[in-house]
Amino acid sequence: MGRNIAVASAPAKAILFGEHFVVYGKPAIATALKRRVRATSTVNDVGKIRVRSVLGYSSVPLSSDPHLYEHDPHRHIIYSAASAMRLLDRQQGVDVLLESDFPYGMGLGASAATSVATIASVASLFGSISKDEVFKLSLEAERLVHRNPSGIDSAVCTYGGLVLFNKDGRIERLDERCSDYSYALHALHFMVVNSGIMKDTGTMVMKVKAREESSKEEFASLAEMSEVITMHALYAIRGRDLARIGELLTLNHMLLRRLGVSNDTLDTIVYRLVKDGAYGAKLTGAGGGGCIISLIDDAKGTTLLSALSSYGYEGFTSSIEDDGVITLD
Ligand code: PMV
Repeated sequence: MGRNIAVASAPAKAILFGEHFVVYGKPAIATALKRRVRATSTVNDVGKIRVRSVLGYSSVPLSSDPHLYEHDPHRHIIYSAASAMRLLDRQQGVDVLLESDFPYGMGLGASAATSVATIASVASLFGSISKDEVFKLSLEAERLVHRNPSGIDSAVCTYGGLVLFNKDGRIERLDERCSDYSYALHALHFMVVNSGIMKDTGTMVMKVKAREESSKEEFASLAEMSEVITMHALYAIRGRDLARIGELLTLNHMLLRRLGVSNDTLDTIVYRLVKDGAYGAKLTGAGGGGCIISLIDDAKGTTLLSALSSYGYEGFTSSIEDDGVITLD
């Protein structure tokens, strides 16, 4: 049983509230965006897992232990492909081609999205896989890259929608929680701005850990504030209070700045977006670079984009993407 080619795609994600503190058990809200990465898998008869993406080309023998390819830029993809086959009790050479319409290393979840899409496409070469299994395997692959991921990236890229990542690790899609949310979500329009600075999630997470260890009390109070902002954001989203959601986004940026994960470029983009009429803006993801997410009035998208390009930055607009991972027939 099986097929020779299978294609799956997964969405980009942006964390709206609660990044970093989510690693320490605090709640966070993230959304899937209308940009996707596509994984095309084909069976090969050379007994290797071969991966091609903008990061280059990798080729490893099927029996590889993950330690043998730990320095490979595609290590989480190789691991994802191998674990999808292990789940379905198969050992077969596969080629994986990754094509993305959003940038890597910019806090939009490319690492989780590529692993989610790879797992789904490789699995559908040989059988079928549930979303819960995709999520679980993607989280294992993320652990190879980021050591201690909260799981929020894999969750959003797998399930899609607007997601509340609860303190106890429970994942809830807000639009499925109650009809008030589902109605409110259509009012949310985002602009994502690329700072042009590559960031490294592992380094930023370690930096925050050092801060937590050296200033426990201050860290605990910042974490409390992050939780309060996230809970207020839930109410504001439910009430479709765009001005309030925007304020909370900017407040969350200031908190992350205090945590030490922002920089002058990110602060400047946030400042300009708010000055030019966005409801609010913040860095999204690990920080140190990557992207800014802002909440905007849909009608102001074009004006904001041209103001941004006059400052030398690129961006795109998006609303919430409902679909998580999709396997194409
Ligand atoms: O920048 P990203 O997309 O890798 O997001 C990292 C989010 C953190 O909260 C900083 C880490 C995590 O595992 O949740």
